[in-house]
Amino acid sequence: MHEIPKTYRVHGHAIVSTDDRIADEQGHMPKALRVPADWRRFRKALDEAVVVVLGRLGHELHPDASGRRRIVVTRGKTHPAPTADVMFWNPLATPLQDVLASFVPGGGPIAVPGGQGVFDLFLQIGYDEFHLARAHRVTLGEGTSVFSGVDDGVPAERLLAEAGLVPGTPEILDAERDVTVAVWRPRAGR
Ligand SMILES: NC(=O)c1ccc[n+]([C@@H]2O[C@H](COP(=O)([O-])OP(=O)(O)OC[C@H]3O[C@@H](n4cnc5c(N)ncnc54)[C@H](OP(=O)(O)O)[C@@H]3O)[C@@H](O)[C@H]2O)c1
Repeated sequence: MHEIPKTYRVHGHAIVSTDDRIADEQGHMPKALRVPADWRRFRKALDEAVVVVLGRLGHELHPDASGRRRIVVTRGKTHPAPTADVMFWNPLATPLQDVLASFVPGGGPIAVPGGQGVFDLFLQIGYDEFHLARAHRVTLGEGTSVFSGVDDGVPAERLLAEAGLVPGTPEILDAERDVTVAVWRPRAGR
């Protein structure tokens, strides 16, 4: 159903704990995952994107999009009318290519900052890049995992590999806090 023209590139961005969580058991992103070097890198990626596709809760938690265009993913049947900068999208009702054609017709990078349901959705649609940052000293135990498959016991990196992606060389983002990032891209030939 969702077949995006090659003029768009889908870039996922997540920072996870050692146990592949993006949020704590209250559903909040803990301070331990707020790493300035990662935040700067993330903000730069958002600034470079033609549109940011994110879940409704994330949109409501962080309503200031700094003028960036947003597509807000929702299953809701009623939602606010679209504005110049924000539109709502139900993936079961409308193909993504139709939404993109009407909202950002020129192509370009699409930033996908989650959360879980949105990361899952694009694992099916296909990532051109998935930027997986990891705080190696942070373990959350309970909480929201980056992909729902993690809750079935499959590590995030295996899920990315099963989706046909391979990791690049990890880069150190914060040596003191032991935070790294690796960019996963489609295996050659895919
Ligand atoms: N560490 C990280 O990298 C990272 C990344 C992202 C988020 N977070 C944190 O995680 C928390 C929020 O994440 P979250 O996963 O709970 O919420 P979220 O993804 O921001 O929002 C969830 C909502 O999005 C909609 N949605 C998600 N997937 C959908 C799908 N496939 N089809 C249709 N609608 C879909 C639904 O909206 P409706 O209820 O309207 O149907 C769902 O209730 C926040 O604390 C945030 O800071 C951390």
